[in-house]
Amino acid sequence: MDIKIFPHPALRHVSKPVMRVNRKLNAIINEMFELMYKARGVGLAANQVGLPLRVFVMNSSGKQGEGIERVFINPVISRQKGMTIAEEGCLSLPELEAEVRRPEQIHVRAYDLQGAEIDETLTGYESRIVQHETDHLDGILFTDRVSPGVHMEIVPTLVEFQDAFDRLHGDHYEKFMADTISYLKSIEQEYC
Ligand code: NI
Repeated sequence: MDIKIFPHPALRHVSKPVMRVNRKLNAIINEMFELMYKARGVGLAANQVGLPLRVFVMNSSGKQGEGIERVFINPVISRQKGMTIAEEGCLSLPELEAEVRRPEQIHVRAYDLQGAEIDETLTGYESRIVQHETDHLDGILFTDRVSPGVHMEIVPTLVEFQDAFDRLHGDHYEKFMADTISYLKSIEQEYC
């Protein structure tokens, strides 16, 4: 398992709800936490590791053994209130940071790994992380949500990511896309 870097096609995949939680999914979640800590992140969505599942992990402390480890399965956001601007980054866009406007307060419903219902109002940093990660599950990246002015500033960096991707996959692009899509479908059949 590894973190997919923009513009990997899995990052644009709209994930389907998870219907089955098994031991293998538990192992996947553990590995996602490991990868998140190693990359110094505070959240990681399943499609960032190439899995088309409506699941993300989060620890707003960003440190293993500190804070609270949380798993959100099939999250649904509602009742957005207020608006706030803050810098965001993403493990799939290393070293890029930009200001993103988001609702300040949200309500989120989801399930945890034990099947218990999450039904909470969040504000501040946790609200922002949950919104960023839920966006991932819909194939949305924070760079899609920046202002037009900020977008102009980050275009050169996005082009660099695209060039790096093309250097890796340009000569076998169609096979790479076909393999990725068939892999995503096979995982969906197992869990969704
Ligand atoms: Ni991200």
